[in-house]
Amino acid sequence: MPDTAPKGLKGLAYGGDYNPEQWPEEVWHEDVRLMREAGVTMVSVGIFSWALLEPEPGNYEFGLLDRAIGLLHENGIRVDLATPTVAPPAWFFRAHPEALSVTREGMRYAFGSRGAICHSSPAYRAAAAAITEQLARRYGTHPALALWHVHNEYGVPVSACYCENCAAHFRRWLERTYGTVDEVNEAWGTAFWGQRYASLDEIEPPRATPTVCNPAQRLDYARFADATMRENFTAERDILHRLSPGVPVTTNFMTALSQCDTVDYWAWGREVDLVTNDHYLITDGRRTHVNLAMAADLTRSVAGGAPWLLLEHSTSGVSWQPRNPAKAPGEMARNSLAHVARGSDGAMFFQWRQSRRGAEKFHSAMVPHAGTDSRVWREVVGLGAGLGSLAAVRGTRTVADAAMVWDWQSWWAQNLEWRPSEDHDARERADSFYEALYDRHLTVDFAHPEGDLSAYPLVVVPALYLTTEAAGRNLRAYVENGGTLVVSYFSGIVDEHDAVHDGPHPGALREVLGLTVEEFSPLGEGERVRITAADGSELTGDVWTEFVVPHGAETVWTYAGGLAAGGPAVTRHRLGKGTAWYVSTRLGAGDLDTILDAAAGDARLAPRAGLPRDVEVVRRTGETGSYLFAVNHTATEAKVPLDAHGTELLTGELAAGHLGVPAGAVRVLRIDDA
Ligand code: GLA
Ligand code: ZN
Repeated sequence: MPDTAPKGLKGLAYGGDYNPEQWPEEVWHEDVRLMREAGVTMVSVGIFSWALLEPEPGNYEFGLLDRAIGLLHENGIRVDLATPTVAPPAWFFRAHPEALSVTREGMRYAFGSRGAICHSSPAYRAAAAAITEQLARRYGTHPALALWHVHNEYGVPVSACYCENCAAHFRRWLERTYGTVDEVNEAWGTAFWGQRYASLDEIEPPRATPTVCNPAQRLDYARFADATMRENFTAERDILHRLSPGVPVTTNFMTALSQCDTVDYWAWGREVDLVTNDHYLITDGRRTHVNLAMAADLTRSVAGGAPWLLLEHSTSGVSWQPRNPAKAPGEMARNSLAHVARGSDGAMFFQWRQSRRGAEKFHSAMVPHAGTDSRVWREVVGLGAGLGSLAAVRGTRTVADAAMVWDWQSWWAQNLEWRPSEDHDARERADSFYEALYDRHLTVDFAHPEGDLSAYPLVVVPALYLTTEAAGRNLRAYVENGGTLVVSYFSGIVDEHDAVHDGPHPGALREVLGLTVEEFSPLGEGERVRITAADGSELTGDVWTEFVVPHGAETVWTYAGGLAAGGPAVTRHRLGKGTAWYVSTRLGAGDLDTILDAAAGDARLAPRAGLPRDVEVVRRTGETGSYLFAVNHTATEAKVPLDAHGTELLTGELAAGHLGVPAGAVRVLRIDDA
C-alpha cells in the first residue's frame, strides 16, 4: 500500500507550483531563501518541463532538474514532482500530428498552447510512459521527493477528442462494455430516427450532426473519454508505484462544479493515493466563499472523507476571467484556511514566482511582480507562519452534519439537448441547495447516489435526472431506515442509458416519494408561481412546475397559480422510520430554507444557535484532538458561542464561553475538553 500523505512532511503543506526553468539560476537562490522566509514546505516542480527534459526524442537532459531539486533539498523543501505529460514537446507533435486532439466539428488543434492531447493516441501513450519511466528511475528514491504529480488537470482544456484513433478506441470500449452491437442498439435506442447499426465498425464518435445527436451515444462517449484519460493516469501511476515505492501518487483535480465538468471524480478518487484539488474563485458577484466551501466539501467527499490537499489556488487575482479583481486584504488566508477547515492538509498556489512571459503573466503568485515589498508577499509570509502553528491539524477529519447526493454522470446526461426547459440547470440546483445548507451552518458531505448514506440524518438530492434502479433502492432504504430525504424536481427520470424509466415519472423515486408526476409544465422566461401552505404562508417558485399525483405522500404546499394550480407543489412522505420530501418547483435559496427547516425538524437537526450569516464554523477531529475552525467572512467581529474551552492556535490565546473572530479573520480552537 503506498502512503497517502506527502512523504516526509511533518506539518501542513505550504507552497506552490515552482517553475525554475523560467528563471536564470541566480534567481533560484533568492527563491529558496524566500521560500524559507515564508515557511514553504513543499513545491510542485516540472509540470510543463517535457521539452526541457527531452529536447529531442530519446535524448534526456536532467541537469537543470537535478540542480533545482538538489537546491530545494538542501533547503529542506519537499518536492511534489510532476510527470510533464500534459505538455508534449513540439518535436513530438511534428512526428505525430495525429496526437493533437480533434473537436466535434472536425477541427484539429495546433501546437502552441498546452493540453491539446488525444488520449487514445498510441504514440502519445508510449511517449508519456517513456518519460514517466525516465523520471521515476532518476528521482524515484530521491530524498526530497514527497509526492508524484501526474499530468495536470485531466479534462482541462480538452476532455474528449473525436479523431479516427478515438473512433477505433471507442469501438473497443463499446465491445468491452456491451459485447455485441445488438446490446449497443438496445442501450442507445437506435430504433428512434433509424440509427440502427449492423456492426460495431459502423459506429463513430458523436461528431457534429445537423440536429440533436443520439443522447445515449453522447453520454457513453463522455464515459469513454473520461475512462480513456483515466487509463492514461493509471498507466503512469503504475510505473511510478513500481519504480518509486512508498511515494504517493496524485493528479490535481478541479472538483468545483463547472471548472471541470467532464471528469467523473467519484471514479478518479478511487485511483489516486492522495486526492488533490485546484480551486479558483469565480468572481461573478456571487458569494465566492460559498462556492469555495462547496468545492472543498466535494473534494473531501471524493477522497472518502480522508484528508486531501489543496494543490493550487491564487494569492490574489487570476487572469482568465473577463475581469480579474485582486483579493481583498486577508482574503487569501481566509480562503486557504477555509480549505484547511474542510479537510485540506495544507494550502498551495499557482504559482511561486509570477511569470514575466507567457500566457499567465497577469495571474497572481506568491512572489508578485511587485516583489517582496508588497501586501501579497507580507500576507504570504503571514499565512506560512499561521499554517506552521496548525501542524497538529494534519491527518484529522472534517465532521459533516448532512449529505448532498451528486453524480457527474447524471449531470452529463442532464446537460444534453432537448430537455423540457433550458432554464433548469442541475448545477444551479446543487449550488442553491448547498447555499441553503451553508446558511444553516451545516457542514455537507457529498455522496454518490449508490453510496452509504446511513451516517446522515438529512440527505438532499438537488438534481438527479439520471437515477439508476440501484440508486432508487438505496435512497428508499435510507428513508425506510429512518433518514430524512429532500428531493428536487426532475430527479429519478432516466436510467444509465438516458432511457425514461418504465411507468410514470419519477420512475426510480416513485416509491420513496410516494407520488407520481403526470406531466412537467416548465414556466416561461421570468414567469413565477406562488405556492401556499395551510397556515397561509407563501413562497415563490420559477422555471418549473409539474402535475404531481400523491400516492401516500401528503401535500404540504400547494400551487396557487399556473397550470398546476390547486395541485401539490411540495409533499412529504412517511415511509418506514423516515420521511421523504419532494419539491416540484424551483425555490430560491431563501424559500428553500423554509422547506429545509421543516425537513431538518424531521431529521432532528437542531439549527446552530447564535451564529451570524457568513461566519463559517467547521470541526476537524482525529488522533491529535478536536479543532474548531471559525471563518469570519463579514466586516464585523463575530463571537462564536462555545460549549467547550481551548487554545486558539493562531494567537495562542485561551478561549472559553465564546471565541472572538475579528472581521475577515480565521480562528482555530484546539478544544481542550470534550
Ligand atoms: C490551472 C493550472 C495552472 C494554471 C492555473 C491558473 O489550475 O493547473 O497551470 O494555469 O490554472 O490559471
Ligand atoms: Zn483522438
